[in-house]
Amino acid sequence: MAHQSALIAEDIAAYLHQHEHKSLLRFLTCGSVDDGKSTLIGRLLYDSKMIFEDQLAALEADSRRVGTQGGDIDFALLVDGLAAEREQGITIDVAYRFFSTDRRKFIVADTPGHEQYTRNMVTGASTADAAIILIDARKGVLTQTRRHSYLVSLLGIRHVVLAINKMDLVGWSKEVFDTILAEYHDFAAQIGIKQFTAIPMSALKGDNITENSANAPWYDGPPLMRWLEEAPVEDELQGKPFRMPVQWVNRPNLDFRGFSGLVASGVIRPGDRIKALPSGRESTVERIVTFRGDLPEAVAGQSVTITLKDEIDISRGDVISAAGQPPEVADQFESTIVWFDEEPLLPGRPYLLKLGARTVTAQVTEPKHKVNVNTLEKLAATRLELNEIGVCNLALSAPIAFDPYAENKDLGGFILIDRMTNRTVGAGMLHFALRRSQNIHWQATDVSKAARALAKGQKARVVWFTGLSGSGKSTIANLLEKRLAAEGRHTYLLDGDNVRHGLNKDLGFTDEDRVENIRRVAEVSKLMVDAGLIVLVSFISPFRAERRMARELMGDGEFVEVFVDTPLAEAEKRDVKGLYAKARAGQLKNFTGIDSPYEAPENPELRIDTTARSAEEAAEQIFEWLETGFDPGI
Ligand code: ADX
Repeated sequence: MAHQSALIAEDIAAYLHQHEHKSLLRFLTCGSVDDGKSTLIGRLLYDSKMIFEDQLAALEADSRRVGTQGGDIDFALLVDGLAAEREQGITIDVAYRFFSTDRRKFIVADTPGHEQYTRNMVTGASTADAAIILIDARKGVLTQTRRHSYLVSLLGIRHVVLAINKMDLVGWSKEVFDTILAEYHDFAAQIGIKQFTAIPMSALKGDNITENSANAPWYDGPPLMRWLEEAPVEDELQGKPFRMPVQWVNRPNLDFRGFSGLVASGVIRPGDRIKALPSGRESTVERIVTFRGDLPEAVAGQSVTITLKDEIDISRGDVISAAGQPPEVADQFESTIVWFDEEPLLPGRPYLLKLGARTVTAQVTEPKHKVNVNTLEKLAATRLELNEIGVCNLALSAPIAFDPYAENKDLGGFILIDRMTNRTVGAGMLHFALRRSQNIHWQATDVSKAARALAKGQKARVVWFTGLSGSGKSTIANLLEKRLAAEGRHTYLLDGDNVRHGLNKDLGFTDEDRVENIRRVAEVSKLMVDAGLIVLVSFISPFRAERRMARELMGDGEFVEVFVDTPLAEAEKRDVKGLYAKARAGQLKNFTGIDSPYEAPENPELRIDTTARSAEEAAEQIFEWLETGFDPGI
């Protein structure tokens, strides 16, 4: 399937050359099937002759049989048919279609329009240069038009067409067109869409698609296809400062060391000064290497390998930039996040953040607000659910080079990945670096953790008890502390119920509060370990992700996870505090084991079976383990 240019018959080599060198426009269509989205895409494929003869024959036959357009071709059947075909067996989220004209190649991302598909639209739009927002002329600007436009603006798509469709059904009325245009104009300004082109059209009849329609003599703008062919996209990226995230360091032998990646913006030539980030080291470009030989220059969109005059240390994930206009480097940001996952975003939980070729750990703070995508109202939120959008701060485990998303999508757009499931759970846009991160520096102190522990004659560490409420954690921890104290050890016991009376008084038992509860107590234990203490932590700590976070905060061998493994039935039978009875009676919500999950440890250092041994024996078992590194109980 290729564009039917006359050149194909005349000079196939010339055609192929021309086709290969045509620019590419990626665009997104927003709207629902009712607005004529499928019809419009079908029309674009048809008018650019991207439909096989046999597909066309089948389409004509189907249109007569089941179509809704009398004797005419029902283009929606073509696109919906393709979609249904593709969807067989696998669920696809975004359908991409390809077509081309003599002047350009196009990739259309066709995404579902409903609110529950916000994440699909964001996925489809993330690489789009342009967007077509469809409006049914009979209905005007609808809630979904506003929602789609907001997302288009949020994702920084600067080339926007307002396709006022079905003009044939309103008698090609200029008044109708003008009224819709005026209403949309006001709204667009509010959400930051500075410029857009409104085109009156009938996708079904083909008016103002490839040629200006005689039905709208009052319209003097371009037809849609010409607008798509002429939208000036490449030049914008080339005009920006040079940026290339390093995908890999190419070192086939000792004589060659090149840095490979896709040029995200700008232009680079041999002899140009560059700066590598985050290190800040500078050098000069020696060669630009490709499979087809060296290049005199490389521009945005090209994949190249760069060699440098000096041996400077650059690794995968670093960014090579114009020396005079480098990106910023920071580890705390304000950002907008769109959440993709069924499991909510929980502030404080560590996720992986991938930006360009770099992956770091990121913690998200409580949303400053979330946005109702239909009304654009800002709402308070403690978490983000599937398809929700919020403004949140981010704290990263290491500094990264970045540009604000509004300036450079490649250096300001990121995805979030769940560390336990490896799923892509969100996407986001960096707004700016938080100044505070630049103004706060680590203060070196002279007395070290090792010195503090040595003075106490012990190895500092945290013994982390996890298990259901009523499993016996606190009883065992208390006995263990007594045993350690009797041996002259310096200890401190952090108990869930007690810490919740003070430091964590503000927290309840929702998932996000439990995450924050554990985050704080993990940080406190880290300080206490730093002070040289043996810290006993007794918290339900029901989630693997947070126990892993606590483990990663400590040094090697400093985190001893003790799983107090008491079956739910047994803990419920004991019910020392009467809480299980309350939870069963519906008087206590989110109770662990009843209507809130407990994720048992997979690889604890110690597992205590409280049905097989007493609390005293358990304390002794742990004491032995701490003293000898040997588990007498297993
Ligand atoms: S955690 O899940 O956030 O780690 P934490 O250990 O601090 O919980 O607190 C658990 C204690 O709070 C329990 O031992 C119990 O006494 C009390 N509690 C009150 N409500 C709940 C609840 N909904 N779920 C679990 N424990 C609760």
